[in-house]
Amino acid sequence: MALRRFRSTLRSSVVTYLLCFSAVVMAYDIFDPTANITITWDVVSWTPDGYVAVVKMNNYQMYRPIMTPGWTLGWTWAKKEIIWSILGAQAIDQGDCKDLPSNIPHSCEKSPRIIDMQPGVPYNQQFLNCCKGGFVSSMGQDPANSLSAFQLSVGNSGNTYKTVGLPKNFSLLGPNQGYTCSPISIVPSSVSLSSGGRRKNRALMSWQLVCRYSQFLASEIPTCCVSMSSFYNSEITPCLSCACGCRINENCVT
Ligand SMILES: *[C@@H]1O[C@H](CO)[C@@H](O)[C@H](O)[C@H]1NC(C)=O
Ligand SMILES: *[C@@H]1O[C@H](CO)[C@@H](O)[C@H](O)[C@H]1NC(C)=O
Repeated sequence: MALRRFRSTLRSSVVTYLLCFSAVVMAYDIFDPTANITITWDVVSWTPDGYVAVVKMNNYQMYRPIMTPGWTLGWTWAKKEIIWSILGAQAIDQGDCKDLPSNIPHSCEKSPRIIDMQPGVPYNQQFLNCCKGGFVSSMGQDPANSLSAFQLSVGNSGNTYKTVGLPKNFSLLGPNQGYTCSPISIVPSSVSLSSGGRRKNRALMSWQLVCRYSQFLASEIPTCCVSMSSFYNSEITPCLSCACGCRINENCVT
């Protein structure tokens, strides 16, 4: 008897713990447990004072596209890097480029924030999979459009494997500001096909990080109480406050 009561207390406290835990760490969705946006940074060539990189954002979430007003990707440079130019996206702020008066860079910000271009920009400013106004479909809904990419030319970084530093402190803002990003790390060099699939090209270096949707960043009231949880529009299914656990453990729903 006593043992049974102990067991059931134990079980309910485990449930309580799980509810709170999953609500705080969030991003976890039983219908899409590995949901993430993977950002890959491929160094594809060296330049006199830096390198050219292709940055790709793959939306591996099954149900959550990035919609209007589109994504904003931010990071902090490791050293005193600058962005000479970008294709397929643009920095929101040029920053202070007064140290480089003769040849004006696209952005001198220590922590640049990048946004997509709108459809219909001139051809010479485009890049493959760019220019959709920051819209990225989800993998489950439209895999062909679940990728966004741009190319940037980085200066002041050195141009050898040893001198380049990995950008850090990435942030990905969607419509509801709800993503948390991991640190970036070195991964095996990306391989891409060219020449109609007959030739394999390998990036010089590849770096990667993942960003996950985080309910608590996106809204005060988490929307994970029903199966519509994958949509971040709270108007689709209004949700009781704390319906799926609360930030403070004592308030947790059991
Ligand atoms: C990101 O999602 C993809 C596709 O579902 C999955 O293969 C990959 O393991 C995930 N990455 C992480 C770090 O969870
Ligand atoms: C990290 O990024 C945030 C937001 O972009 C910025 O406010 C903060 O200063 C950055 N932190 C560091 C250590 O660079």
